[in-house]
Amino acid sequence: MAVSLVPKISSFLYWVAFLTLVLNVLSSVAVKHDNFKTCAQSGFCKRNRAFADAVSASSPPYLYQISQGTATFTNGQFRATVSKAIADGATVQLPLNITFLQSGLARVELDEERRRTGDIELRHGSKARKERYNESPAWALVGGLDVDASAKLAEESRNGVTIIDFGEGHRSTAVIRHTPFSIDFQRNGDTQVKFNNRGFLNVEHWRQKIEKEDVPEGGAEKPSEKPGAEDESTWWEESFGGNTDTKPKGPESIALDISFPGYENVFGIPEHTGPLSLRQTRGVNQDDFTDPYRLYNSDVFEYELNSPMTLYGAIPFMQAHRKDSSVGILWLNAAETWIDITKKKRSGPKLDTDTHWISESGVMDVFVFLGPNPHDLTKALADLTGNTQLPQQFSVGYHQCRWNYMSDEEVKEVDAKFDKHGIPYDVIWLDLEYTDDRKYFTWDMDKFQNPMAMHAQLDVTHRKVVTLIDPHIKNTANYPVVDELKKRDLTIKNKDGNTYEGWCWPGSSHWIDCFNPIARAWWETLFKPDFWKYSTYNTFIWNDMNEPSVFNGPETTMPKDNLHHGNWEHRDVHNINGMTFVNATYHALLNRQPRKPHRPFILTRSFYAGSQRLGAMWTGDNLAEWGHLEASLPMILSLNIAGFPNSGADVGGFFGTPDSELLTRWMQAGAFYPFFRAHAHIDTRRREPYVAGPPYTGIMTQAIRLRYQLLPAWYTAFHEASMDNSPILRPQYYVHPGDEAGFGMDDQFYVGSTGLLVKPVTRAGATSVDVYFADDEVYYDYFEYTMYSKKGFKTVDAPLNKIPIFARGGHIIPRKDRPRRSTHLMQYDPITLMVVLDKAGNAEGSLYLDDGETFDYESGAQVFARFIFSKDSSSLTSQDMATTGSMTKSYRQEMSKVRVEKVIVVGAPSRWANKKHVTAEQGSKTIEADMQFHPASGNKAAWAIVRDPGVSIAKDWKINFL
Ligand SMILES: *[C@@H]1O[C@H](CO)[C@@H](O)[C@H](O)[C@H]1NC(C)=O
Ligand SMILES: *[C@@H]1O[C@H](CO)[C@@H](O)[C@H](O)[C@H]1NC(C)=O
Repeated sequence: MAVSLVPKISSFLYWVAFLTLVLNVLSSVAVKHDNFKTCAQSGFCKRNRAFADAVSASSPPYLYQISQGTATFTNGQFRATVSKAIADGATVQLPLNITFLQSGLARVELDEERRRTGDIELRHGSKARKERYNESPAWALVGGLDVDASAKLAEESRNGVTIIDFGEGHRSTAVIRHTPFSIDFQRNGDTQVKFNNRGFLNVEHWRQKIEKEDVPEGGAEKPSEKPGAEDESTWWEESFGGNTDTKPKGPESIALDISFPGYENVFGIPEHTGPLSLRQTRGVNQDDFTDPYRLYNSDVFEYELNSPMTLYGAIPFMQAHRKDSSVGILWLNAAETWIDITKKKRSGPKLDTDTHWISESGVMDVFVFLGPNPHDLTKALADLTGNTQLPQQFSVGYHQCRWNYMSDEEVKEVDAKFDKHGIPYDVIWLDLEYTDDRKYFTWDMDKFQNPMAMHAQLDVTHRKVVTLIDPHIKNTANYPVVDELKKRDLTIKNKDGNTYEGWCWPGSSHWIDCFNPIARAWWETLFKPDFWKYSTYNTFIWNDMNEPSVFNGPETTMPKDNLHHGNWEHRDVHNINGMTFVNATYHALLNRQPRKPHRPFILTRSFYAGSQRLGAMWTGDNLAEWGHLEASLPMILSLNIAGFPNSGADVGGFFGTPDSELLTRWMQAGAFYPFFRAHAHIDTRRREPYVAGPPYTGIMTQAIRLRYQLLPAWYTAFHEASMDNSPILRPQYYVHPGDEAGFGMDDQFYVGSTGLLVKPVTRAGATSVDVYFADDEVYYDYFEYTMYSKKGFKTVDAPLNKIPIFARGGHIIPRKDRPRRSTHLMQYDPITLMVVLDKAGNAEGSLYLDDGETFDYESGAQVFARFIFSKDSSSLTSQDMATTGSMTKSYRQEMSKVRVEKVIVVGAPSRWANKKHVTAEQGSKTIEADMQFHPASGNKAAWAIVRDPGVSIAKDWKINFL
């Protein structure tokens, strides 16, 4: 059957496709493709692609229209019934809501009346819920749903077309066409986003299975005789890799085409490898993918680069960007989802990007963002899904992990070696093997004979331990955790409603169902030190394998017909499942010290929109190869713009052994991951940074120390992310939304609002990199103050000991310049301000500080200073921006001893050449401080340094340079 399609493709393209296929097979010896479905192997994906092709080929009569007389518009909400025409003149009723929100977003919800009212029959006596799953918002969203009652029906509305103006100044418009049903979203009269413009809307309605004659042994089910009939082969049952999905609700997919006219770049929908600017998935160019991007959280062993294959987590948020305009989509669905992307030239000079969203089940629930700035999208997404957790400060330092540190003695030894080599670190990690026989909440007491002594040694430098706790619970005798789990009936169930059993690290296991509030409450009790022996309040948690990974399950995860709390099928909630487990752990850590809660720290592998509220993520089991180092940057950038800034990749690569050059370059890049952790597989050679020897150990030490030097800047960036979920790493397009040359760029990035531009070296043997400067502002080499002030590419030296970092003019970067062993030991260290002047001679920046541990900052225990260097007044001022509260005064008192130690002005004006002093004022105090001026030489900028201006960071101050 597939063969009959081939002649339609020209023979040249056929060969291109064939060769691409062969090359793909050759280059992907690692990942086991057979373990994971392609679109063609995923029934609903295949059906929807075929439907889209049929619609495109023959423009058949439209199936969906708004039923006459059903449309109403009141209080910011348009409601109607969409009717779907099916065989013999019958129709299916689909209730529709289009809600306009105060944040300027529009929300489109489409459900199916019969399933909604439970008027269907399930097969196989299933206990599953009959409705389409509609609880994703309860897990993913925290707000942003206030309705914009000022949205109004436009006068141009006419019969069959409803036009609604909404958003700030009524600049946005929704044009709702009734027959056929479609919606255009406009801003200032220009169409930005189109729904169902191509007619791919498809709601697979409930229907009764018509039993066919039995298929004879060995024979195949006869294909339907009717020409153009739907492919029913995967409606009622689907097998893959020896597992059968019983599909008690029949076919129930939901799909829609969404187009972005004039937008050539789309970003987002992590987690995938491949470029930040998403590729076409159905094109014929060599670079195009042949499968859609897939979102189905999975434990993909030895994942491959440059692929639309699914990975461990999913955020169904896509951003489209063109010159000076960003718009976006949040497709709030937790089931398996595929997204096709194609680009087409229609009217206008630019390509349109067309997307096709296909989910296996659930209601349709889509948010439309009309921008126009990338940051507007960030803020609106944050209103919905929340902000980044303000992390404990220790977690912004360097993390040392390996599978496994095998004993308490080994932990103590590694700890001592870091100190011996003068390498700072904050956290040492214990993977799987610390447990007794892979039973979580126990210790292997042969290997860890005295965990308390281990904790005590780490406490000396305020370092922490992170231990692995996964959602699979070993099914074994004499293990109170599994006994209680079963006794209290808190497990995920199989399709028959009995406790599901599968295989993971411990062998036979059961899974806690964190959709169940009682399960979450019980989970909390396990984290109390009186239950979990030898854990301390400085023990933090790594939630791995929470996709969930099931070694013997379909696609290494759970059967879709498993049942969760409330009898929702696993199919409906799969992509949210991992987040519910992290949420349970988050509250467990929060509540283990009820009198003085400390901020939890949790690392997760699986995630969904909203997971940023709960901790950090990493990109899973990468390889010790240069390509994986390079690929980590677009992956982390994609996460940052899609709402999960606190992300990182395993430094050094998990599988395999990096040579010293790769490890060194990776450490330099990792020092600029928001989450900075080295990790290694149990079968790899030891590679703590002190192992490699000279010159590598010294260079890695410098990279880690640079991370600690910039800790105040990092922590300030995390604070910003905790206020509006701003990306911590920002791609070119985000910072320069009008510079088209940078839109596809994903190998360099900015750190928060600091103006620091980083271009990590990701190629073996490289001694230089080509850096792109997006404008004519002046950029200074961070270390040497060499100036770059021309827009365009510039080749810059990057020998092994050099990280290419540039400070963009106009910024003030806070630092702490004294090397210490851990972040906590830097708490009261003095501040250095690096003032980097722009062409006009001005600069701005900020600094956020708090205790780094507790929630006291919510009661005003914080320092938040805004620094402004003004050319006009030749002065640097510090202004308080903190949120004040009952603890402000005492915290300020404590922090008054933290002083500004140095002010370095890069690009200092030559009129300062003979200046020897500046005056600093704080309160009633005036101090004369020394200043030293270093004239420009060659390409190097002039700079000046003020020492000890005698001002404290805790109150406003001013330094006069006049
Ligand atoms: C539409 O919104 C109303 C609340 O205004 C809600 O009760 C109803 O369930 C929503 N319908 C759909 C299809 O989401
Ligand atoms: C997370 O868990 C807590 C504690 O059980 C619960 O109160 C809360 O509703 C859950 N929220 C989300 C969004 O997961």
